[in-house]
Formats: sequence, C-alpha cells, structure tokens
Amino acid sequence: MSILVTGGSGYIGSHTLIELINKGYRDLISVDNYSNSNVSTYERVEKITGVVVKHYPIDLTDQNSCKLLFEQEKIESIIHFAAFKSVPESLANPLLYYRNNLDSLINLLECCQIFSCHKFIFSSSCSVYGNSEELPVTEKSSLGIPESPYAQTKFIGEGILADTVKAHQLLKVIILRYFNPVGAHESGLNGEPASARPNNLVPFITQTAAGLKDKLQIFGGDYNTKDGTCVRDYIHVSDIAEAHILALNYLEKMDKPIDIFNLGTGNGVTVLEVVKSFEQVNKLTLNYEIVDRREGDVEAVYANNSKAYKLLGWQPKFGLEEMMLSAWKWQLYLYEGN
Ligand code: UFG
Repeated sequence: MSILVTGGSGYIGSHTLIELINKGYRDLISVDNYSNSNVSTYERVEKITGVVVKHYPIDLTDQNSCKLLFEQEKIESIIHFAAFKSVPESLANPLLYYRNNLDSLINLLECCQIFSCHKFIFSSSCSVYGNSEELPVTEKSSLGIPESPYAQTKFIGEGILADTVKAHQLLKVIILRYFNPVGAHESGLNGEPASARPNNLVPFITQTAAGLKDKLQIFGGDYNTKDGTCVRDYIHVSDIAEAHILALNYLEKMDKPIDIFNLGTGNGVTVLEVVKSFEQVNKLTLNYEIVDRREGDVEAVYANNSKAYKLLGWQPKFGLEEMMLSAWKWQLYLYEGN
C-alpha cells in the first residue's frame, strides 16, 4: 500500500519526499504535471537520500489519468500538494487557478471514494485567514475574506473536504495551513525548483543577490506594522515537510473525520527584517527599493502553532537565519549550473 504524493517534484512536495524517505517510508508514488517544476527534482531527491522515487507525469485535472493511476497502484493515503500558488498570478488569471486547484482536488476525492482510499492530507494556506483581527491566528480564528483567487481556492478546497467527510464515512482528512514556507534543504541540493515562476519574497531576494534581478521591490512601506512593511510567519520548508509525516501518523489515531493545523513558527517578521537577516547571515548587501503595495497582500499574519505542537508533536527546528542561509546556498548551487 502506497502513499501518493501529488506535486512531488515541487518545492514542498520534494522536501516531504526526502523527509518520508528519511523516516523509512519506501512505498511512495509521486505525480506531477511539471507545470511549475521539473522531473530532474527526483534526481536531487535520490542524490540526498539514495532512494529512487517512483513517479508519473500526470495532470490531476484529467479525471481519466487520475483513475488510471488508482487502477494501477494501490494507494492508501494521499498528501496533496499539486496546486498553483502565486497570489499575483491568480489575480491575473483566476479561472486558471479555480480550474487547476479545484478540479484536481475533486478528481482525487472521487478516486478516494471509488478506490477506497481513506487518508488525505491537504495543503492549505494561512491566506484563508485574510486580514485577521486576531493575531496570532489560531485554527479557531474566524476566516476572513480571501484576498485573492489563490486564497479562495484554498478556502473552497477546505469546504469541499469538510463536506466530503460528512458523506464519505471512512475518509479522514488533515488540513495543514502553511504560513510562508522558505529556505532549502540543509545540504543546499534541493530548494524551490529553478523552473518555477517565482513570485515570492525569498526567491526574489536570492535572485537579486545573485545579480539575476537588478533590484528587489518591497511592496508597500506604509502598512500599520513596526517598520511599515508586511508581516508574515516564515517557516523552513523542511519543518513544513516534517509536519506531514507527523500528520500521517496522527491520521491513524484521529478520532474525528477532519482536523486543521497551523504550520508556522509563531513569529511575525516584516519584509525589511527578512532582507536584513539575509544580508547579515550571508554577508551581502541587497539592492532594494520600497514601492507601492501589491494587490492581494494582507497586512500581517502569523500563527499560533500550539495545536500542532500538542497534537502532532510538531515543533519547528529552524530559525530565520537558517532559512536565509539555506536559501542562498541553494541559489548558489543553481547559479553554478546545476
Ligand atoms: N514581497 C515583496 N517583494 C517581492 C515579493 C514579495 O515585498 O518581490 C512581499 C509581499 O508583499 C509580502 C511578503 O513579501 O508582504 C511575502 O510575500 P510572498 O509572495 O513571498 O508570500 P505571500 O505572503 O503573498 O504568500 C505566500 C505564498 C502563498 C501562501 C502564503 C501563505 O505565495 O502560496 O504565502 O501560505 F499561501
């Protein structure tokens, strides 16, 4: 019986494959349509772990391919990463986001019903909290108005799962709300895929430092925060990955059909603080300017992560410095033509 990791060649998916292998899991199947990643990720996973992951090029929005996969493989649990994740891209092309992120989820859940697969872990996002009045946000904080179509797809995805477990008695679901995943594997051999369309802060910082971008633009310097720039909860991608293994274990003993966990460090950090930390730990100076606010951004969001600590036994190991060091190490590895 296998664990299906969708989006396994992507950023969080590939780090989760590494963690799964490190914890002794071998019955792994990964699928990806490589729309935002590359098949060579599996070679990097192999280089780090010594294990070859079985993988298929599959677009999960295609119900037939999805069914064929389940016919071919005996899948016991699913960790579902495959999705588009850029806030600005979703504002520019909302239908692409609704089609991709929701069709793939629905197809997988239909396959769960048809092929009796009862364990499902879903990648959600702190963006479902919108501009929350309550900080840090807990899993019980009320959900705000999603600020972008991307955030809407996660909000709607959570609703689809909540409805499905009511009708599909055996299905058990864990929703993981990621805060801002950054950094790279500590070896420096795996990080955000080079082919990805980066729209996020840290890839833009490392690209600016590498001279691939002239200047980092900081979106908005007039927010109601300590230095005027947005506050986020940056969390190391390997810490996020580890939480999925703990969630898989927790699914076995979970006494309700669905549960939700925040995955953040609990520290709210401004964009300028991230830039300063990057400069400091890597002994570099970054060229940046503060420009207008970006549409779709919330002012501040950070996690109360005590539920994940209490029930999953999850505790982030890496701090902001390690996130910035590993992100740069990965950029240098890419820069050297890898
Ligand atoms: N930012 C800049 N300049 C840039 C890019 C980003 O100033 O070039 C700022 C943004 O305005 C924001 C902060 O850096 O204040 C973080 O922005 P990101 O784009 O890195 O991340 P978001 O908070 O917009 O969203 C990210 C992911 C989503 C995910 C969310 C929470 O893109 O997929 O974190 O999980 F849902």
